[in-house]
Amino acid sequence: MRFDLAFIGFGTVGRGLADLLLEKKEELKKRYGMEYRVVAISDIKVGSILDDRGIDLKEALRLAEARTSLETLPAQKKGLSAIETIRASHSNAIVEVTWTNIVNGEPGYSHIKTALSLGKHVVTTNKGPISLYYRELMKLADANGVKLKFKGTVLSGTPAFNLFDGVLAGCSVSSIRGILNGTTNYILTEMEKGLDYKDALKEAQRLGYAEADPTMDVEGGDAAAKVTILANALLGINIRPDNVKRKGITSVTTKEVKKAKDRGGRIKLIARAEKKGNSILAEVSPIPLPVSDPLANIMGVTNALTFATDCLGNITIVGPGAGRRATGYALLTDLISIANGK
Ligand code: HSE
Repeated sequence: MRFDLAFIGFGTVGRGLADLLLEKKEELKKRYGMEYRVVAISDIKVGSILDDRGIDLKEALRLAEARTSLETLPAQKKGLSAIETIRASHSNAIVEVTWTNIVNGEPGYSHIKTALSLGKHVVTTNKGPISLYYRELMKLADANGVKLKFKGTVLSGTPAFNLFDGVLAGCSVSSIRGILNGTTNYILTEMEKGLDYKDALKEAQRLGYAEADPTMDVEGGDAAAKVTILANALLGINIRPDNVKRKGITSVTTKEVKKAKDRGGRIKLIARAEKKGNSILAEVSPIPLPVSDPLANIMGVTNALTFATDCLGNITIVGPGAGRRATGYALLTDLISIANGK
């Protein structure tokens, strides 16, 4: 299969995918029969170019890293908006990597709807539209005979969703419970070492883990969006982020973190969802866990998720939940699965 890709957004995550596409070009062709061309990039900060004959991705990446406008490159069209780019490019797949907005999902929601309606596949890491409009968007993709893939919205490239239609097919999930936000886990880890909350948050921002608006992380909004996506995709329910009861870590003190440790445990920001008869329990809150719980031992920016299943009991997966390469990889693996007809 050959992808003609349009990048909508070309920040850290988009560039993470670009790195991998360049690095693995030959391997993708040999192992998966997947070829690609980038025909458009539209980004609010580094500009917008469209050329259906193909864009020099390496050069675009170099310019974006140097914060120089992509519009200095030769291209058939320049300066188009994201929606114009989706419409005007002869792309067959859109990489939607604009910022997350869990209030109304925009602008990602409109980007994804437009692309799917035009019969273009979409791969995205955008938690806003997927947490708010999962069923509607999946239906739209189906109706147009294309795929919408969103693996990187939760746990970056660490497998979660596809476990249950892949290697664990036939196994049902009854509840999920995890550490889904790297920033807050990093802050709690640093607080245990003695750093105070504010300094730990500053460091998480400096390291690039936090959302553009870090209140999304520390007040539990990011974890609420992620647990919503997991619950809708794996528990077969239909909730929205505002159905998730949530409390963040802003009121957790270094003293409390130390006290939990002295008692042989750890405070973790736990996101969970469970089907109880006809009702749904969905919650994000800081909870002291005994060290015997695998989630208590997840430190720093790492994420982890425990699935309660009918055939295997509890399964816990641990892996990166943020970062340029890990999240770029989530998009790459989504493209490979589309290329493989999955
Ligand atoms: N801000 C998010 C986190 C990034 O800290 O986990 C990945 O979704």
